[in-house]
Amino acid sequence: MRVSTLRISRIEIKNWRNFRGARVSNVSDIVYLLGPNAAGKSNFLDVMRFLRDLAKSKGGGLQEAVESRGGISKIRCLHARKDTEVLIDIDVTEGDGLAGWNYIIGFNIPSAGFEKSRRPIITREIVNRIGIDGEKTNLLNRPNAEDDADDAQRQQTYLEQVNTNKKFRELADFFGSITYYHLVPQLLKFGDEISGRILDDDPFGQGFLLRVSSTPERQRNSRLRKIEKALQSIVPQLEDLKFIQDEITGRPHLEIRFKHHRPQGAKQREDQFSDGTLRLIALFWLLQEAGDAPLLLEEPELSLNEEVVRQLSYLIETVRRRKSSSSGRQVLISTHSYALLSNPGIDADGIIVIEPSDNGSTTRKVNKSEQAALSAGLSPAEVVLPHARSLGIGMQLKLDL
Ligand SMILES: Nc1ncnc2c1ncn2[C@@H]1O[C@H](COP(=O)(O)OP(=O)(O)OP(=O)(O)O)[C@@H](O)[C@H]1O
Ligand SMILES: [Mg+2]
Repeated sequence: MRVSTLRISRIEIKNWRNFRGARVSNVSDIVYLLGPNAAGKSNFLDVMRFLRDLAKSKGGGLQEAVESRGGISKIRCLHARKDTEVLIDIDVTEGDGLAGWNYIIGFNIPSAGFEKSRRPIITREIVNRIGIDGEKTNLLNRPNAEDDADDAQRQQTYLEQVNTNKKFRELADFFGSITYYHLVPQLLKFGDEISGRILDDDPFGQGFLLRVSSTPERQRNSRLRKIEKALQSIVPQLEDLKFIQDEITGRPHLEIRFKHHRPQGAKQREDQFSDGTLRLIALFWLLQEAGDAPLLLEEPELSLNEEVVRQLSYLIETVRRRKSSSSGRQVLISTHSYALLSNPGIDADGIIVIEPSDNGSTTRKVNKSEQAALSAGLSPAEVVLPHARSLGIGMQLKLDL
């Protein structure tokens, strides 16, 4: 049975980073964010990370979410005009239907005289329940009477507090379990030597092996088998992908056996895997992980060779679909890889083009003529990417050295 999962269906932002204003409707299950360097792909993903930071069960909240980004002046668009409120307005719906939630959060630095502190305050926080007919029922509309009676309350969202989010806990849990992933293989391989601080949500994958280790054995084995299958289409010499615990140190490890001239094959642990193999293992793991909230992937093409990247969109789709209990989690991917988008099977609806300008970036979906070319069998790489590149064909990057 297909269990209906929540997904982001519309995103609207105002004064967010390098976007003065942007709106994306009908957000697909697999989204590709395209744009040249510094277009705002990571900034766009950061909208969802911000909502996650508001709602996450450990250490969440408006103050921390703003502070960890260097304060409101780093978040607010430098191109903002008179209206300086930062705003996120997002719809989250169940499956393909209209029913779900609408959440709006606006915040700003209090105007002089309003309050002594320069801490950001909410300018509005609105929650609407959306019915199957698309009709909205309002559940929260701040500032409310309580805020008027006590200014300090506006430093916190109702989303971040368990005693105020009761009526929309499902939405808070959904935001709180959004995952962001930008695995840096070196941090995973040499974590012990680097002994760096692992960030709260481990975006760079240092704690990935612990994640694998703390998964119940049956589930772990089943996921690893699927990953092994997917990997074999790319690394044919690979025979067996296993989880092991070091007998002496007790540390968790992954082990691969490779076909080899020796009869028992050659075994390797994760510190010997290639960067690309490691990134793929972590990526395929996350695609299968429990939880239905979106997965945000930064440039999954990194350290993979072009042939593999060509198959990546197909692999993401199949691993995602194999997840047994639901229709698969929503995936939002930032990329500038030509190869990744060279699969003509990529759903054009999922493409979001980010276009920079002197006045901040804007977002758009594929236009009519691009749609026609895609329907005729061309790939997004051929049709959409040339426009998304900062350097046109024949132009060269000039460096004054
Ligand atoms: N508050 C802000 N106002 C205006 N611009 C900003 C703000 N914050 C960040 N930027 C700019 O936004 C630009 C886009 O950054 P972002 O990291 O999202 O790009 P990207 O598309 O992910 O690029 P890459 O492909 O290099 O990763 C950067 O040049 C950055 O200086
Ligand atoms: Mg980026």
